[in-house]
Amino acid sequence: MKQFQTALDGYSLVTAQSISEHARSSGNILTTDQIKEGEAELALILSLTQQGFEANAAVPGIMKALTERLQALMNKSTPLVWTHLASIAQAHPVSSYLLQDPLTRWSFEKPRGYSGDAYLLDFIYEHPAVAAQVKAASPLGSEIYNFTRSAPSAVAVRERRDLLAAHVDAVAGENDNAEILAIAAGHLREAERSQALQSGKLKRWVALDQDPISVGTVSSAFHGSCVEAVNGSVRTILGRAQKLGTFDFIYAAGLYDYLAESVAVRLTERCLQMLKPGGKFLLANFAKDIGVEGYMETFMNWPLIWRTDEDVQSIIDKVRHHLADISVTRGENGGVIYAVLTV
Ligand SMILES: C[S@@+](CC[C@H](N)C(=O)[O-])C[C@H]1O[C@@H](n2cnc3c(N)ncnc32)[C@H](O)[C@@H]1O
Repeated sequence: MKQFQTALDGYSLVTAQSISEHARSSGNILTTDQIKEGEAELALILSLTQQGFEANAAVPGIMKALTERLQALMNKSTPLVWTHLASIAQAHPVSSYLLQDPLTRWSFEKPRGYSGDAYLLDFIYEHPAVAAQVKAASPLGSEIYNFTRSAPSAVAVRERRDLLAAHVDAVAGENDNAEILAIAAGHLREAERSQALQSGKLKRWVALDQDPISVGTVSSAFHGSCVEAVNGSVRTILGRAQKLGTFDFIYAAGLYDYLAESVAVRLTERCLQMLKPGGKFLLANFAKDIGVEGYMETFMNWPLIWRTDEDVQSIIDKVRHHLADISVTRGENGGVIYAVLTV
């Protein structure tokens, strides 16, 4: 358990390996039978997929079957067995087809050195920033991308971006000169959809991220606006290393999925302390059982801490701060859980 806590403490960069250590720390005992059964089932799944590609079968059908079969295998495997199976899948020749999808490829290769960078999210947002790479994909890669960008996880992430913009606009409607803080802001794509930003209603929108490349992208994209791109991390927030001030709305999307519960609790407490009276903090976390975890954790090598509503509630219950209101909801397809805490 200690290894997991060290890796996901908000201090270190999140790698697929550190999340896998989470799985390994879950105290499972690996038996030879479990491994053999899992390996046999996985070999069949991968071989059927490969045959489908070789026979030029319809891509949506191949991908749907692969995703569902991997999910079923993941669901019945212990975390330790699943980690082992995921590494076998990644080394299988069928990955040469799947990696033609620019989204799967970026996720797997991790050019920024960590999982879930902002450029990866741009493939999910179908953003013009990645248009050239999408266009350069092979015909098969384009067809697979059509499938992966339509997966429930991708649909939920695009909705998340739109919901965040709507929250910011609502806060701006209720507060003159509203001050907003986005933690792990990535490319702050939600700001492109905010009416409040466009109409100059905000005082400032601080976009904090640990990745200097993403900070630079935000800085130039929103140059001349009230957006302030800041290089910082969960660590600098917890350590109060930066004087960020107070805010009407603070949110973190695409971050809690990487944080161990103890860090999630501490970060939530710190964010609540940075709110003005009546301010709101929103955290988003991918939900368990979205149905695509098996594919994401194998061919995308993008393991996450998938949470249930109870897991999110458990973070809230441990927070030592007065809360005037708590709401835990899900997005339309249930793929993302949102907790909104009002002080
Ligand atoms: C999945 S992206 C989400 C980006 C954006 N919030 C969105 O929804 O599009 C995750 C972001 O978290 C940032 N990140 C990861 N660990 C972090 C940490 N410890 N402190 C601050 N940012 C972090 C990454 O640099 C990346 O930009």
